[in-house]
Amino acid sequence: VRFETRFTYDFIKRSLPPHCARILEVGCGTGELAAQLTREGFSVVAIDTDREVIATARRGGVDARFAQWPYFRDGLFDAILFTRSLHHIHPLDAAVQGAGECLRGGGRVVVEDFAYESADKKTLRWFASASRILAAAGLLVERDEFLDQVLRKPESLPAWRKAHDYDLHTAAAIGAELGAAFDNLATENAAYYFRYLAKAMGGAERCDAVAQALANQETALIADAAIIAFGRRYIAARARSSRVITASLPTAGRVSGDSKRPRSRTR
Ligand SMILES: C[S@@+](CC[C@H](N)C(=O)[O-])C[C@H]1O[C@@H](n2cnc3c(N)ncnc32)[C@H](O)[C@@H]1O
Repeated sequence: VRFETRFTYDFIKRSLPPHCARILEVGCGTGELAAQLTREGFSVVAIDTDREVIATARRGGVDARFAQWPYFRDGLFDAILFTRSLHHIHPLDAAVQGAGECLRGGGRVVVEDFAYESADKKTLRWFASASRILAAAGLLVERDEFLDQVLRKPESLPAWRKAHDYDLHTAAAIGAELGAAFDNLATENAAYYFRYLAKAMGGAERCDAVAQALANQETALIADAAIIAFGRRYIAARARSSRVITASLPTAGRVSGDSKRPRSRTR
């Protein structure tokens, strides 16, 4: 399992509700996370709108289905996961409310996503310099137009904005929608930029350690407030009694029993 998936898996694992048995993953891609959870004994259904990735996920042993959220229903789940998919899904309010409707009592919606609107000059300066080191080492074998722009230009903010300037939801919109639909919402920041470089390194095994080192560096820079965190993680619970759910949520994120607004841990 690639480092990027392990990084997500660690978050998902500590965010699942107690006695979690049945999980839905929305926008599963090639299904690495779903396969890992399936191997661990969870009953996992994974959906995606891309037939090719569904075929790959099935080959990996996942009960993957070609379906579009929020128009998919198959009973109730203990956890519904969106890993880097919610920013794509329209309409956002129906996507979030639909997840709430499909949760068992005590269930959770767990989201890993990004805040593309958060990127600033100094953060992208670090990202560009990390990218150049890997490029100089010959490790960036799968470059795309965006990464090429970052590598070419000293100023990458316009390139960043252009690359993300399409129909994606902001983290502010995602957080607000989750906050409106769930009684309890824990929000945390996380490293994310390393994923672009891990992808550009093409998934070679020797690059796994490099991806991990980058994620560690990114995490440390976020903790020092030297860069702005790009990753956002949300754990939403539809509490029958908010006190009970608040007590059982992981301690990593701040939990609010009465606020409708998402909270950030480090900003
Ligand atoms: C950026 S990829 C993330 C894939 C995987 N979760 C991961 O983290 O590697 C987003 C995925 O969401 C899927 N997707 C987008 N809109 C969707 C929708 N409305 N319903 C289900 N899947 C969707 C895309 O086809 C794509 O595979």
